[in-house]
Amino acid sequence: MSVRASADGGTVGLAEPGSGERAKIRAIATERVFGRGAKAVHALGPLDLTVSEGEFVCVVGPSGCGKSTFLRIVAGLTRPTAGKAEVLANSPNPAAMIFQDYGIYPWKTVEANVRFGLDIRGVPRKEARERARTWLDRMGLGDFANAYPRQLSGGMRQRVSIARALAVEPEILLMDEPFAALDAQLRTILQDELLAICQAERRTVLFVTHSLEEAIVLGDRVVVMSARPGRILAERIPPFPRPRSAEVRESAEFAAFRGELWALLRGEVEADGPGQGTANRPTAEPEAAVATAARKGA
Ligand SMILES: Nc1ncnc2c1ncn2[C@@H]1O[C@H](COP(=O)(O)OP(=O)(O)OP(=O)(O)O)[C@@H](O)[C@H]1O
Ligand SMILES: [Mg+2]
Repeated sequence: MSVRASADGGTVGLAEPGSGERAKIRAIATERVFGRGAKAVHALGPLDLTVSEGEFVCVVGPSGCGKSTFLRIVAGLTRPTAGKAEVLANSPNPAAMIFQDYGIYPWKTVEANVRFGLDIRGVPRKEARERARTWLDRMGLGDFANAYPRQLSGGMRQRVSIARALAVEPEILLMDEPFAALDAQLRTILQDELLAICQAERRTVLFVTHSLEEAIVLGDRVVVMSARPGRILAERIPPFPRPRSAEVRESAEFAAFRGELWALLRGEVEADGPGQGTANRPTAEPEAAVATAARKGA
């Protein structure tokens, strides 16, 4: 097991598989503070979470509660300041991340962006090109392989970022609001496609979203985070068989479950900002309120 220790005690590392239950991600009392002294921001935790192999866990929480920070810690891009986060992996590069701001390179073409993760993993050139093309086609971007990101819409850039992560066929997918910039129709198509891939190939997914509906449709488990510093407030298992079709989504049971999650989240979203905007109106639609909160913090 290789664990990198951070200056102030937090650790993040790769653990050998088999050193416990079939966990893939294990966060133990993970905390992150940015800055020091009077200006320090306690962004996250302490947070405990275990994600099992093949599990699809959705995370919802108010803007600024530390969701992206947590994903970055799990990805090994940011160190925790206390506690630890482990990825229990079978391969040297087990996780691929889809960033909230797409994280694609403006100077690379669409195809080169998608190939990037394959290139750094040493996939032979021809195979990398074919895999990149396949995923671009699946994302409806086949005609834009040679375009640059500035020539694309926001939703298209987001699809490039999704294609890049999926092309490496990672054991673990860390997805930070990956469908936020897509229209409702494409969003549903990609949700279905993602679920099909994850179920067929037993991918482990940690998926951040501001949409309660999306969390319920996709998640084996939905984790609700508190306002900053984000801790786990509650966990719920959506009691709906898959596929969670339009009929399921429109059912009274689905609405009731969404209402239950919103009741948990509402106080936290309200705590996020004092009495301004839709987020704080008691009558606000849950999706709109969480989204508004997310935009406020963007
Ligand atoms: N690199 C950084 N330096 C200083 N503060 C940071 C840094 N990254 C995040 N923060 C702070 O940590 C807190 C959590 O940020 P984070 O991006 O994790 O929130 P989030 O839950 O993903 O929010 P959103 O829903 O708006 O995306 C915020 O207060 C943010 O300002
Ligand atoms: Mg975020």
